[in-house]
Formats: sequence, structure tokens, C-alpha cells
Amino acid sequence: METLRMLVDNNLNSEKSYSQAVDLLNNGEVVAFPTETVYGLGAVATNERGVKKIFEAKGRPSDNPLIVHIGTIEEVSDFIEEIPDNAIKLMETFWPGPLTVIMKAKKGLMAPSVTAGLETVGMRMPNHEVALELLRKLKKPVAAPSANRSGKPSPTKAIHVEEDLQGRIPLILDGGATGIGIESTVLDVTVNPPVILRPGGVTKEMLEEVIGEVIQPTIMQEKLESTPKAPGMKYTHYAPDAPVQLIESDRAIVSNAILKLRKEGAKIALLAPLSFESLGADYFFPYGDEGDKEMMSTKLYDDLRACDKTDATIILATTTTTEGVGAAIMNRLEKAAGGKWFNR
Ligand code: TXA
Ligand code: MG
Repeated sequence: METLRMLVDNNLNSEKSYSQAVDLLNNGEVVAFPTETVYGLGAVATNERGVKKIFEAKGRPSDNPLIVHIGTIEEVSDFIEEIPDNAIKLMETFWPGPLTVIMKAKKGLMAPSVTAGLETVGMRMPNHEVALELLRKLKKPVAAPSANRSGKPSPTKAIHVEEDLQGRIPLILDGGATGIGIESTVLDVTVNPPVILRPGGVTKEMLEEVIGEVIQPTIMQEKLESTPKAPGMKYTHYAPDAPVQLIESDRAIVSNAILKLRKEGAKIALLAPLSFESLGADYFFPYGDEGDKEMMSTKLYDDLRACDKTDATIILATTTTTEGVGAAIMNRLEKAAGGKWFNR
């Protein structure tokens, strides 16, 4: 299969690209498209044949449910059994935006693979003009996981989708680089207080301002069998080819690590704030200025993917605090590293 990449933006006449995407989706095919978080690989959420193709193209385990994307808040009631009051408040406050709300699904409406046997479904309205335009032209819900091969960092640029899924999908709508760079917050509102199953751009603090107490399991709690989690979080994630090790964001510590690893013959890629460039790693991928968490989340996956283009044998990634969007960044970094720290 040939994979077409079509540019879509304000300054171009993109009607043809959208109508091609809508036709493909209506015919049970998959299409990759940008959102404000990462690129998604979509199929019509009520079309089992289309949804199955998502799992095939990604190599995704079939027990991992998909997020359903919609273009208007009104569509929620078509698919959800009871919408809790706190969910309504959250949707009104944060949609369109990087918040996925898990609610109890009406039976038999979504394609079975979307929910992977669960009684719940996660819905979100993405805050990206291309995604919204596509959804509103299609007038159907779109199930879409991130548009990467399973296990790889999520795509924040159309070229990342192409690298992973070339020849496996018919169309990529190219809307440039995504903004936030890490996936949406996944919040389960079927329990009280609601639980964050995956931290993201909408932080615990932001949620609590609207609905009061919200539970965010710590990394330790997440490892416990009894802690609820998104089915997808148990799989290896966000992993470049070379092993990743976490390291404190401290110049002396990183400098010593580089010396030690070099003596052992390692080729080192370093992901760290701009000011760490002078420490002399073999490859350096700056997050941005020290403490700029927005920039760090925007760049993280692109940096991890860039390491695959080098001959680095180890990737050192400096960490950040878990305040605000830092919780989401650390969640992804922990998973990329499989929990490994340099020298710990
Ligand atoms: O920002 C995003 O959320 C991106 C863009 C494309 O919208 N999508 C995305 O989808 O990250 P995906 O499939 O890569 O991650 C969805 C996560 C998985 O961890 C999955 O297990 C969880 O959400 N999830 C989906 N439906 C669920 C449900 N009903 N109950 C619990 N977890 C669910
Ligand atoms: Mg994903």
C-alpha cells in the first residue's frame, strides 16, 4: 500500500485532502491526523472492520482500548449511558483539549475492539483545527490511538508517522508539529473520587479546581496490582532503540556519568536542558531552557526518536519535578527508561 502524506493548513485549499480522508474513513479505512497532543491513527468508531485495521497497522495488543474522538459535546450522550455531573463540568471547562473522560458506554454501539471488552469508553474532543475539521465533516466518532508502532514514542510530527507506518496506512494528514507533545490526561469518572489513569496536559491541580478531589496514583502505587490503571499502561512504551537511563538534572552528576560511561566505551546521547550542551555528550538533544516544562513536553518524543538516528549505545535523560505537567513528563520518562536510573 502506498502511504500518501497531504499537507493541510489554513493557507492551502485543503478541501480535497479532507474529502479524501472522509471517504477513506467512511469506507472502513484508517487515516492519520494531527491533534494538539500527538498524531492519532483514526477509524470510524462504530466500524469494526476499520478499527481492526488500526490494531493491525500499529501492532497493538487487542486488549488495549481506544480513545473515541468527537467534534461536538452533544455527541457524548449518543454513546454514554449516564454522564456524571462532574464529567459535564470537566467537558465544558477543558474541551476541546487534552482530557479523555472514561464513562460507562451504551451497549452495542461502539465497534467491539474499541472498548476491548470493557463496559467503559474514553472520549475526548481534540483542540486542533485539522482534527476538528475532519470530525465535523465526517459527523461520526473516530477511534484513534497514537499513530506510532506499538512500543515506540508517540508521533509529534507527520514524518514520525511516516517512519513508523509507511506502507501500512493509506493517508496521513500533515498539519505540522503538534503543540503539547504528550498524550491527553485519561480520567476515570466512573469512580468517586475520579482517578487519573494517565497523567497529561490537563493536570491534577487543574482538574481539582473544577471538581474537587482527584486521585493521582504515584509511580509506586501504579506498580501495585490493586491500583486501577489504563490497560495500555502495562506495556512497554515510548522506547527508542538504545536503553534509556534517568539521571538527576545536575551538571556535576551528569558530567561524572558521561566520563564514567565513556571509559566503558559507551556512545552517549544526552537529553537535558540547553545549558548541559557543554558537558560533551556524543549527541545532545536539548529540552529547552531549564525548568521550561512546556518545552520539555513538546520536545520529548521528538528527542527520543532522534536518538534512533544516531549510533548512541545509551541515552541519558535528565528528570524534572512532578508538579504540573511534570507529572505527565515523568510518567513517560519512567516508562521510556523502564524505571532505570543511572547508577542507582
Ligand atoms: O492524546 C491522546 O490521548 C492521543 C491522541 C491521538 O488523542 N491518543 C492516545 O491514545 O494516546 P492511545 O491509544 O495511545 O492511549 C490511550 C490510553 C491507553 O493507555 C488505554 O489503555 C487507555 O487510554 N484507555 C482507553 N480507553 C480506556 C478505558 N475504557 N478504560 C481505561 N483506560 C482506557
Ligand atoms: Mg499510544
